[in-house]
Amino acid sequence: MQQKKRQMSLIGFMQAQNCSTYPGSWRHAATTPDFLTPEYYQRIARVLEEGKFHMAFFDDRLAMPDIYSGDHTDTVKHGIRAVKMDPVVVLSAMAAVTTKLGLGATYSTTYYEPYHVARTFATLDLMTKGRAAWNVVTSLNDSEAANFGSSKHLEHDQRYERADEFLEATLGHWDTWQEEALVIDKDKGLFAHPEKVKRLDHRGTYFNSRGPFTVPRSPQGQPVLIQAGQSGRGKAFAARWAEFIFVVYPNLDMAKKQYAEMKSVIASEGRDPNKVQIATACYVVVGETDEIARQKMAYADALAKDEDALALICEVLNHDFAGRDIDEPINDEDMKAVSGWRAFRDRVVMLSGKSNPSVRDFIDFSKRAKLKEFNVFVGSPTTVADEMEKWFVEGGCDGFVISPTHTPGSYEDFVRMVVPELQRRGVFRKDYQGDTLRENLGLPYPKSGDWLRDQQAAAQLREAAETA
Ligand SMILES: Cc1cc2nc3c(=O)[nH]c(=O)nc-3n(C[C@H](O)[C@H](O)[C@H](O)COP(=O)(O)O)c2cc1C
Repeated sequence: MQQKKRQMSLIGFMQAQNCSTYPGSWRHAATTPDFLTPEYYQRIARVLEEGKFHMAFFDDRLAMPDIYSGDHTDTVKHGIRAVKMDPVVVLSAMAAVTTKLGLGATYSTTYYEPYHVARTFATLDLMTKGRAAWNVVTSLNDSEAANFGSSKHLEHDQRYERADEFLEATLGHWDTWQEEALVIDKDKGLFAHPEKVKRLDHRGTYFNSRGPFTVPRSPQGQPVLIQAGQSGRGKAFAARWAEFIFVVYPNLDMAKKQYAEMKSVIASEGRDPNKVQIATACYVVVGETDEIARQKMAYADALAKDEDALALICEVLNHDFAGRDIDEPINDEDMKAVSGWRAFRDRVVMLSGKSNPSVRDFIDFSKRAKLKEFNVFVGSPTTVADEMEKWFVEGGCDGFVISPTHTPGSYEDFVRMVVPELQRRGVFRKDYQGDTLRENLGLPYPKSGDWLRDQQAAAQLREAAETA
Protein backbone atom coordinates (compact mmCIF):
# COMPACT_ATOMS: atom_id res chain seq x y z
CA MET A 1 0.00 0.00 0.00
CA GLN A 2 1.27 3.46 -0.86
CA GLN A 3 2.12 5.58 2.20
CA LYS A 4 0.16 8.82 2.54
CA LYS A 5 2.36 11.88 2.06
CA ARG A 6 3.10 13.66 5.33
CA GLN A 7 1.50 17.11 5.44
CA MET A 8 2.09 20.08 7.71
CA SER A 9 -0.26 21.45 10.33
CA LEU A 10 -1.20 25.13 10.42
CA ILE A 11 -2.37 26.88 13.55
CA GLY A 12 -3.52 30.50 13.87
CA PHE A 13 -1.85 32.04 16.94
CA MET A 14 -4.64 34.16 18.40
CA GLN A 15 -5.05 36.54 21.32
CA ALA A 16 -8.30 37.77 22.82
CA GLN A 17 -6.69 41.17 23.22
CA ASN A 18 -5.83 44.48 21.60
CA CYS A 19 -2.78 43.22 19.70
CA SER A 20 -1.26 39.98 18.47
CA THR A 21 1.83 38.43 20.11
CA TYR A 22 3.49 41.47 18.51
CA PRO A 23 2.47 44.42 20.73
CA GLY A 24 3.15 46.89 17.90
CA SER A 25 0.45 45.23 15.79
CA TRP A 26 -2.33 47.48 17.15
CA ARG A 27 -0.41 50.50 15.78
CA HIS A 28 -0.39 49.02 12.25
CA ALA A 29 -2.42 51.10 9.79
CA ALA A 30 -4.26 48.00 8.51
CA THR A 31 -5.24 46.60 11.94
CA THR A 32 -8.94 47.06 12.55
CA PRO A 33 -9.90 48.41 15.99
CA ASP A 34 -12.92 46.11 16.62
CA PHE A 35 -11.14 43.48 18.75
CA LEU A 36 -13.83 43.81 21.45
CA THR A 37 -16.55 42.52 19.13
CA PRO A 38 -17.50 38.97 18.09
CA GLU A 39 -17.44 40.01 14.42
CA TYR A 40 -13.67 40.60 14.56
CA TYR A 41 -12.96 37.03 15.73
CA GLN A 42 -15.60 35.56 13.45
CA ARG A 43 -14.05 37.22 10.42
CA ILE A 44 -10.69 35.63 11.29
CA ALA A 45 -12.35 32.26 11.99
CA ARG A 46 -13.90 32.22 8.51
CA VAL A 47 -10.57 33.12 6.91
CA LEU A 48 -8.71 30.36 8.78
CA GLU A 49 -11.34 27.78 7.86
CA GLU A 50 -11.26 28.84 4.22
CA GLY A 51 -7.49 28.26 4.43
CA LYS A 52 -8.09 24.75 5.93
CA PHE A 53 -6.16 25.67 9.08
CA HIS A 54 -6.18 22.96 11.73
CA MET A 55 -6.87 25.28 14.59
CA ALA A 56 -7.35 28.79 15.88
CA PHE A 57 -5.49 28.78 19.17
CA PHE A 58 -5.70 31.46 21.89
CA ASP A 59 -2.93 32.09 24.38
CA ASP A 60 -3.79 33.49 27.81
CA ARG A 61 -2.37 35.38 30.75
CA LEU A 62 -4.28 36.04 33.95
CA ALA A 63 -2.88 39.51 34.62
CA MET A 64 -1.92 42.73 32.88
CA PRO A 65 1.87 43.09 32.38
CA ASP A 66 2.69 45.34 35.36
CA ILE A 67 5.91 43.99 36.85
CA TYR A 68 8.16 46.60 35.17
CA SER A 69 8.20 49.53 37.64
CA GLY A 70 5.51 47.72 39.62
CA ASP A 71 2.85 49.61 37.76
CA HIS A 72 0.49 49.32 34.78
CA THR A 73 0.75 52.92 33.45
CA ASP A 74 3.09 52.13 30.53
CA THR A 75 1.15 48.98 29.68
CA VAL A 76 -2.14 50.80 29.40
CA LYS A 77 -0.68 53.85 27.68
CA HIS A 78 1.19 51.87 25.03
CA GLY A 79 -1.39 49.07 24.69
CA ILE A 80 1.12 46.35 25.62
CA ARG A 81 -1.35 43.47 25.81
CA ALA A 82 -3.41 45.63 28.15
CA VAL A 83 -6.65 43.81 27.26
CA LYS A 84 -7.08 40.09 27.85
CA MET A 85 -10.53 38.52 27.53
CA ASP A 86 -11.49 34.96 28.39
CA PRO A 87 -10.43 32.86 25.39
CA VAL A 88 -13.05 30.12 25.72
CA VAL A 89 -15.90 32.61 25.50
CA VAL A 90 -14.32 34.15 22.40
CA LEU A 91 -13.90 30.68 20.87
CA SER A 92 -17.62 30.08 21.24
CA ALA A 93 -18.29 33.07 18.99
CA MET A 94 -15.85 31.66 16.40
CA ALA A 95 -17.42 28.21 16.65
CA ALA A 96 -20.79 29.63 15.66
CA VAL A 97 -19.56 30.59 12.16
CA THR A 98 -17.36 27.55 11.41
CA THR A 99 -17.83 23.77 11.19
CA LYS A 100 -14.35 22.25 10.82
CA LEU A 101 -11.81 24.64 12.31
CA GLY A 102 -10.25 23.34 15.55
CA LEU A 103 -10.61 25.70 18.52
CA GLY A 104 -7.90 25.77 21.18
CA ALA A 105 -7.59 27.86 24.32
CA THR A 106 -5.10 28.23 27.13
CA TYR A 107 -6.18 27.61 30.72
CA SER A 108 -3.89 27.55 33.75
CA THR A 109 -3.32 24.58 36.04
CA THR A 110 -1.89 26.90 38.70
CA TYR A 111 -4.90 29.18 39.11
CA TYR A 112 -7.89 27.07 38.13
CA GLU A 113 -9.38 23.87 39.56
CA PRO A 114 -9.57 20.58 37.64
CA TYR A 115 -13.36 20.28 37.88
CA HIS A 116 -13.84 23.77 36.46
CA VAL A 117 -11.43 23.23 33.55
CA ALA A 118 -12.74 19.72 32.84
CA ARG A 119 -16.29 21.05 32.63
CA THR A 120 -15.42 24.16 30.57
CA PHE A 121 -13.52 22.23 27.89
CA ALA A 122 -15.89 19.25 27.83
CA THR A 123 -18.73 21.72 27.26
CA LEU A 124 -16.78 23.56 24.55
CA ASP A 125 -16.05 20.20 22.94
CA LEU A 126 -19.77 19.35 22.80
CA MET A 127 -20.80 22.81 21.62
CA THR A 128 -18.25 22.62 18.78
CA LYS A 129 -19.09 18.98 17.90
CA GLY A 130 -15.62 17.75 18.81
CA ARG A 131 -13.30 20.58 17.82
CA ALA A 132 -11.90 21.71 21.18
CA ALA A 133 -8.31 21.72 22.44
CA TRP A 134 -6.81 22.85 25.74
CA ASN A 135 -3.33 24.39 25.93
CA VAL A 136 -2.13 23.39 29.39
CA VAL A 137 0.00 26.09 31.01
CA THR A 138 1.37 26.57 34.51
CA SER A 139 1.35 30.42 34.24
CA LEU A 140 4.13 32.87 34.78
CA ASN A 141 4.24 35.47 37.45
CA ASP A 142 3.26 37.18 40.70
CA SER A 143 0.77 39.49 38.96
CA GLU A 144 -1.30 36.43 38.12
CA ALA A 145 -0.94 35.16 41.68
CA ALA A 146 -2.18 38.53 42.96
CA ASN A 147 -5.38 38.14 40.99
CA PHE A 148 -6.03 34.73 42.53
CA GLY A 149 -5.57 35.35 46.22
CA SER A 150 -1.83 34.94 46.79
CA SER A 151 1.18 37.20 46.59
CA LYS A 152 3.75 34.76 45.16
CA HIS A 153 3.62 32.59 42.08
CA LEU A 154 4.29 28.91 42.83
CA GLU A 155 7.89 27.73 42.32
CA HIS A 156 8.70 26.44 38.81
CA ASP A 157 8.96 22.66 39.33
CA GLN A 158 6.19 22.64 41.91
CA ARG A 159 3.91 24.17 39.27
CA TYR A 160 4.55 21.14 37.09
CA GLU A 161 3.97 18.74 39.99
CA ARG A 162 0.60 20.40 40.53
CA ALA A 163 -0.03 20.30 36.77
CA ASP A 164 0.59 16.52 36.68
CA GLU A 165 -2.00 15.99 39.36
CA PHE A 166 -4.31 18.49 37.66
CA LEU A 167 -4.27 16.39 34.49
CA GLU A 168 -4.87 13.17 36.36
CA ALA A 169 -7.97 14.72 37.91
CA THR A 170 -9.19 16.37 34.69
CA LEU A 171 -8.73 13.32 32.47
CA GLY A 172 -10.16 11.28 35.32
CA HIS A 173 -13.36 13.35 35.21
CA TRP A 174 -13.57 13.19 31.40
CA ASP A 175 -13.27 9.44 31.69
CA THR A 176 -16.10 8.87 34.13
CA TRP A 177 -18.74 8.85 31.39
CA GLN A 178 -18.33 5.80 29.18
CA GLU A 179 -19.14 5.95 25.45
CA GLU A 180 -22.52 4.23 25.63
CA ALA A 181 -23.64 5.73 28.94
CA LEU A 182 -26.40 7.93 27.48
CA VAL A 183 -29.62 6.13 26.44
CA ILE A 184 -32.44 8.71 26.56
CA ASP A 185 -35.12 5.98 26.23
CA LYS A 186 -38.42 7.64 27.08
CA ASP A 187 -40.43 4.39 26.78
CA LYS A 188 -38.26 2.55 29.33
CA GLY A 189 -37.80 5.66 31.43
CA LEU A 190 -34.01 5.18 31.26
CA PHE A 191 -31.96 8.34 30.75
CA ALA A 192 -28.45 6.88 31.19
CA HIS A 193 -26.84 3.65 32.50
CA PRO A 194 -25.85 4.37 36.12
CA GLU A 195 -23.08 1.74 35.99
CA LYS A 196 -21.48 3.60 33.05
CA VAL A 197 -21.19 6.89 34.93
CA LYS A 198 -18.60 6.62 37.71
CA ARG A 199 -17.61 9.01 40.47
CA LEU A 200 -13.97 10.13 40.34
CA ASP A 201 -13.25 10.54 44.08
CA HIS A 202 -9.83 12.11 43.47
CA ARG A 203 -7.89 12.82 46.67
CA GLY A 204 -4.36 14.12 46.18
CA THR A 205 -1.70 16.56 47.31
CA TYR A 206 -3.10 19.62 45.55
CA PHE A 207 -6.71 18.72 44.81
CA ASN A 208 -9.71 16.89 46.09
CA SER A 209 -12.44 16.48 43.51
CA ARG A 210 -15.30 14.09 43.97
CA GLY A 211 -17.66 14.07 41.00
CA PRO A 212 -19.76 12.62 39.49
CA PHE A 213 -18.87 14.74 36.48
CA THR A 214 -21.81 16.33 34.71
CA VAL A 215 -20.75 16.45 31.04
CA PRO A 216 -20.95 13.31 28.83
CA ARG A 217 -18.34 12.50 26.18
CA SER A 218 -18.09 14.48 22.95
CA PRO A 219 -17.83 13.23 19.35
CA GLN A 220 -14.01 13.27 19.65
CA GLY A 221 -13.99 11.57 23.07
CA GLN A 222 -12.23 14.37 24.86
CA PRO A 223 -10.50 17.67 23.99
CA VAL A 224 -7.03 17.54 22.43
CA LEU A 225 -4.20 18.39 24.86
CA ILE A 226 -1.59 20.98 23.83
CA GLN A 227 1.54 21.96 25.80
CA ALA A 228 4.55 24.23 25.31
CA GLY A 229 7.03 23.57 28.13
CA GLN A 230 10.61 24.54 27.27
CA SER A 231 12.57 23.76 30.44
CA GLY A 232 13.68 20.19 31.18
CA ARG A 233 10.75 19.77 33.57
CA GLY A 234 8.36 21.39 31.12
CA LYS A 235 9.49 19.13 28.28
CA ALA A 236 9.07 16.03 30.44
CA PHE A 237 5.53 17.20 31.24
CA ALA A 238 4.77 17.82 27.56
CA ALA A 239 6.20 14.43 26.62
CA ARG A 240 3.95 12.74 29.16
CA TRP A 241 0.67 14.46 28.34
CA ALA A 242 0.67 16.53 25.15
CA GLU A 243 -0.91 15.42 21.91
CA PHE A 244 0.39 18.56 20.23
CA ILE A 245 3.41 20.64 21.24
CA PHE A 246 4.11 24.34 20.59
CA VAL A 247 7.71 25.54 20.46
CA VAL A 248 9.75 28.57 19.42
CA TYR A 249 12.68 27.43 17.28
CA PRO A 250 14.83 30.43 16.28
CA ASN A 251 16.35 29.01 13.09
CA LEU A 252 16.34 25.82 11.05
CA ASP A 253 19.62 24.42 12.42
CA MET A 254 18.48 24.74 16.01
CA ALA A 255 15.02 23.53 15.03
CA LYS A 256 16.40 20.27 13.61
CA LYS A 257 18.40 19.63 16.76
CA GLN A 258 15.67 20.54 19.24
CA TYR A 259 12.92 18.80 17.26
CA ALA A 260 14.90 15.52 17.24
CA GLU A 261 15.62 15.91 20.97
CA MET A 262 11.95 16.53 21.80
CA LYS A 263 10.85 13.51 19.76
CA SER A 264 13.31 11.35 21.69
CA VAL A 265 12.01 12.71 25.04
CA ILE A 266 8.52 11.67 23.88
CA ALA A 267 9.79 8.19 22.96
CA SER A 268 11.50 7.84 26.32
CA GLU A 269 8.08 8.44 27.89
CA GLY A 270 6.96 5.25 26.13
CA ARG A 271 4.87 7.15 23.57
CA ASP A 272 4.95 7.05 19.79
CA PRO A 273 6.74 10.31 18.71
CA ASN A 274 4.98 10.19 15.34
CA LYS A 275 1.65 10.65 17.10
CA VAL A 276 2.70 13.90 18.80
CA GLN A 277 3.13 16.86 16.45
CA ILE A 278 5.49 19.77 17.12
CA ALA A 279 4.65 23.17 15.65
CA THR A 280 6.93 26.21 15.84
CA ALA A 281 5.77 29.79 16.31
CA CYS A 282 6.54 32.19 13.46
CA TYR A 283 5.49 35.40 11.76
CA VAL A 284 4.78 35.40 8.04
CA VAL A 285 5.05 38.58 5.99
CA VAL A 286 3.98 37.78 2.45
CA GLY A 287 3.64 40.14 -0.50
CA GLU A 288 2.97 39.75 -4.20
CA THR A 289 6.74 40.09 -4.74
CA ASP A 290 9.80 39.78 -2.47
CA GLU A 291 10.22 43.55 -2.61
CA ILE A 292 6.64 44.28 -1.54
CA ALA A 293 7.05 41.80 1.35
CA ARG A 294 10.31 43.44 2.43
CA GLN A 295 8.62 46.83 2.51
CA LYS A 296 5.71 45.41 4.54
CA MET A 297 8.21 43.88 6.96
CA ALA A 298 10.15 47.15 7.37
CA TYR A 299 6.92 49.03 8.07
CA ALA A 300 5.62 46.48 10.62
CA ASP A 301 9.02 46.10 12.29
CA ALA A 302 9.27 49.85 12.93
CA LEU A 303 6.11 49.77 15.07
CA ALA A 304 7.94 48.18 18.04
CA LYS A 305 8.79 50.38 21.04
CA ASP A 306 11.36 49.85 23.80
CA GLU A 307 8.55 50.15 26.35
CA ASP A 308 6.96 47.01 24.84
CA ALA A 309 10.16 45.01 25.32
CA LEU A 310 10.78 46.17 28.89
CA ALA A 311 7.23 45.42 30.01
CA LEU A 312 7.18 41.98 28.43
CA ILE A 313 10.70 40.95 29.52
CA CYS A 314 9.85 41.71 33.15
CA GLU A 315 6.52 39.93 32.73
CA VAL A 316 8.08 36.78 31.33
CA LEU A 317 10.91 36.65 33.87
CA ASN A 318 8.70 37.63 36.83
CA HIS A 319 11.31 40.17 37.87
CA ASP A 320 11.41 43.98 37.87
CA PHE A 321 14.47 45.39 36.08
CA ALA A 322 13.35 49.04 36.36
CA GLY A 323 15.60 51.71 37.84
CA ARG A 324 18.93 50.19 36.87
CA ASP A 325 21.49 51.14 34.26
CA ILE A 326 20.37 49.39 31.10
CA ASP A 327 23.98 48.38 30.29
CA GLU A 328 24.94 47.12 33.74
CA PRO A 329 25.41 43.33 33.96
CA ILE A 330 22.66 41.70 36.02
CA ASN A 331 24.28 40.16 39.10
CA ASP A 332 24.12 36.44 40.02
CA GLU A 333 21.54 37.03 42.73
CA ASP A 334 19.11 38.77 40.35
CA MET A 335 19.74 36.19 37.63
CA LYS A 336 18.78 33.48 40.12
CA ALA A 337 15.73 35.44 41.30
CA VAL A 338 14.18 35.02 37.85
CA SER A 339 11.29 32.65 38.37
CA GLY A 340 9.15 32.95 35.23
CA TRP A 341 10.28 31.17 32.03
CA ARG A 342 13.81 30.13 32.96
CA ALA A 343 14.27 28.81 29.44
CA PHE A 344 13.85 32.41 28.20
CA ARG A 345 16.61 33.62 30.56
CA ASP A 346 18.87 30.72 29.60
CA ARG A 347 18.39 31.42 25.90
CA VAL A 348 19.65 35.00 26.37
CA VAL A 349 22.67 33.68 28.32
CA MET A 350 23.38 31.25 25.50
CA LEU A 351 22.88 33.71 22.62
CA SER A 352 24.82 36.58 24.25
CA GLY A 353 27.59 34.32 25.52
CA LYS A 354 27.38 36.17 28.88
CA SER A 355 26.46 34.58 32.19
CA ASN A 356 25.51 38.06 33.45
CA PRO A 357 23.79 39.83 30.57
CA SER A 358 22.51 43.40 30.92
CA VAL A 359 18.91 44.51 30.40
CA ARG A 360 19.98 45.71 26.95
CA ASP A 361 21.27 42.21 26.20
CA PHE A 362 17.88 40.85 27.17
CA ILE A 363 16.21 43.30 24.76
CA ASP A 364 18.70 42.64 21.94
CA PHE A 365 19.07 38.87 22.19
CA SER A 366 15.58 37.80 23.23
CA LYS A 367 13.98 40.15 20.65
CA ARG A 368 11.02 40.14 23.03
CA ALA A 369 8.08 42.18 21.72
CA LYS A 370 9.74 42.42 18.29
CA LEU A 371 8.87 40.52 15.15
CA LYS A 372 12.21 38.70 15.25
CA GLU A 373 11.25 37.12 18.59
CA PHE A 374 10.02 34.28 16.39
CA ASN A 375 11.39 33.13 13.09
CA VAL A 376 9.98 35.44 10.36
CA PHE A 377 9.24 34.17 6.87
CA VAL A 378 9.35 37.19 4.53
CA GLY A 379 8.82 37.23 0.79
CA SER A 380 6.63 36.35 -2.16
CA PRO A 381 4.34 33.29 -1.87
CA THR A 382 7.07 31.19 -3.53
CA THR A 383 9.81 32.42 -1.19
CA VAL A 384 7.68 31.86 1.93
CA ALA A 385 6.51 28.42 0.76
CA ASP A 386 10.13 27.43 -0.07
CA GLU A 387 11.20 28.24 3.48
CA MET A 388 8.24 26.63 5.20
CA GLU A 389 8.61 23.50 3.07
CA LYS A 390 12.31 23.34 3.92
CA TRP A 391 11.65 23.51 7.66
CA PHE A 392 8.95 20.87 7.37
CA VAL A 393 10.76 18.45 5.03
CA GLU A 394 14.18 18.72 6.68
CA GLY A 395 12.91 17.76 10.12
CA GLY A 396 12.56 21.18 11.76
CA CYS A 397 8.89 20.83 12.70
CA ASP A 398 5.55 19.20 11.88
CA GLY A 399 3.77 22.51 11.45
CA PHE A 400 3.59 26.22 12.24
CA VAL A 401 1.83 28.41 14.79
CA ILE A 402 1.40 31.54 12.72
CA SER A 403 1.31 34.88 14.45
CA PRO A 404 0.04 37.96 12.62
CA THR A 405 1.88 41.26 12.20
CA HIS A 406 -1.56 42.88 11.95
CA THR A 407 -5.12 41.64 12.01
CA PRO A 408 -7.05 40.40 10.21
CA GLY A 409 -4.90 41.28 7.18
CA SER A 410 -1.96 38.94 7.93
CA TYR A 411 -4.22 35.88 7.91
CA GLU A 412 -6.05 37.07 4.80
CA ASP A 413 -2.73 37.52 2.96
CA PHE A 414 -1.49 34.11 4.09
CA VAL A 415 -4.63 32.27 3.03
CA ARG A 416 -4.84 34.10 -0.31
CA MET A 417 -1.17 33.77 -1.25
CA VAL A 418 0.70 31.08 0.71
CA VAL A 419 -1.91 28.35 1.29
CA PRO A 420 -2.50 27.67 -2.45
CA GLU A 421 1.27 27.43 -3.00
CA LEU A 422 1.71 24.93 -0.14
CA GLN A 423 -1.26 22.94 -1.47
CA ARG A 424 0.16 22.91 -5.00
CA ARG A 425 3.36 21.37 -3.60
CA GLY A 426 1.36 18.73 -1.71
CA VAL A 427 2.80 19.70 1.69
CA PHE A 428 -0.53 21.04 2.92
CA ARG A 429 -3.99 19.52 2.56
CA LYS A 430 -6.67 20.74 0.15
CA ASP A 431 -9.54 19.90 2.46
CA TYR A 432 -10.41 18.75 5.97
CA GLN A 433 -10.20 14.98 6.46
CA GLY A 434 -13.09 14.82 8.95
CA ASP A 435 -15.33 16.77 11.26
CA THR A 436 -13.51 16.59 14.60
CA LEU A 437 -10.16 18.11 15.48
CA ARG A 438 -8.77 14.65 16.26
CA GLU A 439 -9.74 13.41 12.80
CA ASN A 440 -8.13 16.45 11.21
CA LEU A 441 -4.93 16.03 13.20
CA GLY A 442 -4.81 12.27 12.62
CA LEU A 443 -5.15 11.57 16.35
CA PRO A 444 -6.92 8.43 17.61
CA TYR A 445 -10.29 8.60 19.38
CA PRO A 446 -9.58 8.02 23.09
CA LYS A 447 -12.00 5.59 24.71
CA SER A 448 -12.85 5.76 28.37
CA GLY A 449 -9.92 4.25 30.29
CA ASP A 450 -7.38 4.59 27.44
CA TRP A 451 -5.36 7.40 29.03
CA LEU A 452 -4.94 5.50 32.29
CA ARG A 453 -3.85 2.32 30.52
CA ASP A 454 -1.43 4.37 28.37
CA GLN A 455 0.02 6.08 31.45
CA GLN A 456 0.44 2.78 33.29
CA ALA A 457 2.13 1.18 30.27
CA ALA A 458 4.47 4.20 29.93
CA ALA A 459 5.34 4.07 33.65
CA GLN A 460 6.21 0.36 33.33
CA LEU A 461 8.39 1.09 30.29
CA ARG A 462 10.19 3.87 32.16
CA GLU A 463 10.77 1.62 35.14
CA ALA A 464 12.11 -1.18 32.93
CA ALA A 465 14.45 1.28 31.18
CA GLU A 466 15.70 2.62 34.52
CA THR A 467 16.46 -0.84 35.94
CA ALA A 468 18.00 -2.17 32.69
C1 LIG B 1 3.75 28.98 21.22
C2 LIG B 1 3.69 29.12 22.71
C3 LIG B 1 2.51 29.57 23.31
C4 LIG B 1 2.45 29.72 24.69
N1 LIG B 1 1.30 30.18 25.26
C5 LIG B 1 1.26 30.43 26.60
C6 LIG B 1 0.13 31.02 27.19
O1 LIG B 1 -0.84 31.30 26.52
N2 LIG B 1 0.15 31.27 28.53
C7 LIG B 1 1.21 30.97 29.31
O2 LIG B 1 1.15 31.23 30.52
N3 LIG B 1 2.30 30.39 28.78
C8 LIG B 1 2.34 30.13 27.45
N4 LIG B 1 3.47 29.57 26.89
C9 LIG B 1 4.58 29.24 27.81
C10 LIG B 1 4.72 27.76 28.06
O3 LIG B 1 3.56 27.19 28.58
C11 LIG B 1 5.89 27.54 29.03
O4 LIG B 1 5.60 28.00 30.31
C12 LIG B 1 7.14 28.24 28.55
O5 LIG B 1 7.43 27.79 27.26
C13 LIG B 1 8.34 28.03 29.48
O6 LIG B 1 8.62 26.69 29.68
P1 LIG B 1 8.71 26.08 31.15
O7 LIG B 1 7.31 26.25 31.74
O8 LIG B 1 9.05 24.65 30.94
O9 LIG B 1 9.72 26.86 31.91
C14 LIG B 1 3.57 29.40 25.51
C15 LIG B 1 4.74 28.95 24.91
C16 LIG B 1 4.82 28.82 23.52
C17 LIG B 1 6.10 28.32 22.93
